Amino acid sequence: MSQKTNRGQWGSRFGFIMAAAGSAVGLGNIWRFPYLAGENGGSAFVLIYLFFVIVMGISLMTTEFALGRRAGVSAVGSFKNLDRRWTFVGVIGVLTAFIIMGFYPVVGGWSLAYMFKSITGLMSTPDTAAFFGNFVSSSMEPLLWMLIYMILNIFIVVRGVSGGIEAASKVLMPVLIVLLIFVAVYGMTLDGSFAGVEFLIKPDFSAVTWDSVLSALGQAFFSMSLGMGAMLTYGSYLKKDQSLPGNAGLVSGLDTFVALLAGFAIFPALFAFGVEPTSGAGLVFMVVPQVFSNISGIGAILSFFFFSALTVAALTSSVSLLEVVTSYLIDEHGINRKKATLAVAVAMTILSTLASLSQGVLSDVSILGASFFDAFDIVTDKIFLAVGGVLIAIFAGWVVKKEDLISEVTNEGTKPFALVNVWYAIVKYAIPLVVGVVAVMGIINIQQRALMIAGLAIIAILAVFSKKL
Ligand code: PHE
Repeated sequence: MSQKTNRGQWGSRFGFIMAAAGSAVGLGNIWRFPYLAGENGGSAFVLIYLFFVIVMGISLMTTEFALGRRAGVSAVGSFKNLDRRWTFVGVIGVLTAFIIMGFYPVVGGWSLAYMFKSITGLMSTPDTAAFFGNFVSSSMEPLLWMLIYMILNIFIVVRGVSGGIEAASKVLMPVLIVLLIFVAVYGMTLDGSFAGVEFLIKPDFSAVTWDSVLSALGQAFFSMSLGMGAMLTYGSYLKKDQSLPGNAGLVSGLDTFVALLAGFAIFPALFAFGVEPTSGAGLVFMVVPQVFSNISGIGAILSFFFFSALTVAALTSSVSLLEVVTSYLIDEHGINRKKATLAVAVAMTILSTLASLSQGVLSDVSILGASFFDAFDIVTDKIFLAVGGVLIAIFAGWVVKKEDLISEVTNEGTKPFALVNVWYAIVKYAIPLVVGVVAVMGIINIQQRALMIAGLAIIAILAVFSKKL
């Protein structure tokens, strides 16, 4: 039952851009990008990441917008309505959104907690790394913050597309950008910070492995919300007169700008303070408070604003993840928005509780060789998004009729798109080939092989059984 009636539409072009950019810009840019760059040798990782964004990402985003707007329904319906055998691509997307929400709210909760900690003692701690470690491993406290974060998500999504998501997207994004610029500029004035700039711009390809290439690809897709139907779903709410490549370029540009800005905010300060680039998932939570604690007087308030803005950036991303699953239940199963949102959120909360506790009391429990937190992260980022991206590109390039896709992308020929042939060739040939090779090589070379095999098995099972969904 894929119905087109009674669906919201974006209030304005600005609203759509803010919402799509809101989905893209999030913890992926500010929390994840810097620590992955740190773990994978810096500049070479950044360059590979930029390659994937510019060559594959923008094209794939345009494609997702086009598929979504053409179908006018959310991810699963968009595939199913054209060819039932492809339903599983939408279903993989729904599952991916679900599992990302198994760890994303944990970090969202950390950010929320740090908002309040900024004004209650974080600034006077002598050791921000130990502070972070004690906090996340304390089990109950981070769990409570995660639950509050989850409740905020539910509120926004229950209110529906243009009421909730759009309004929340518009406010704090500029604040975040201004504060990142502030931290970057301030960081660069510190002694020893130049090593951080070098780390980001002087390529050292000796640290590059297939695993890090796959990480860069996964990060590009994760950061741009690609490969799982989020942008496709957002495109389904988009009006027919909007330029798809134009919007994709703008959203991608903004997303990449914020990620690079976060890199320049973190690394100069990190080198100045002598923190290890490979310190992992706590990086922003260690470096940023340390920068602000250097600024006596207003440091606490700046830190409070930084983490408020980060929390809002995270929320505008996680609501899009929740929306992918919720809109599936609404469009395909006729469930009402409120019920759908609550049911999905409860299930996600169970997963994220496991991930949250895996930093504390459940740290000894492993699934297929990784903690719950890492397992949810690895399986989505390194398998589902990459495979999802390849499948979406194959679907667009080989299943959808060329005239139909091109007509959607050019608004029935009324908005000419100069690079239309290049774009089409990238979608039809380059993404399946390049992303496919990176995924296969990455999966062969990665340490957590058991997880990879499990992920692929799930995809295979879905491919066989999801025709009925
Ligand atoms: N792009 C978001 C971020 O960078 C995360 C996300 C991934 C959101 C996939 C939606 C879909 O934080």
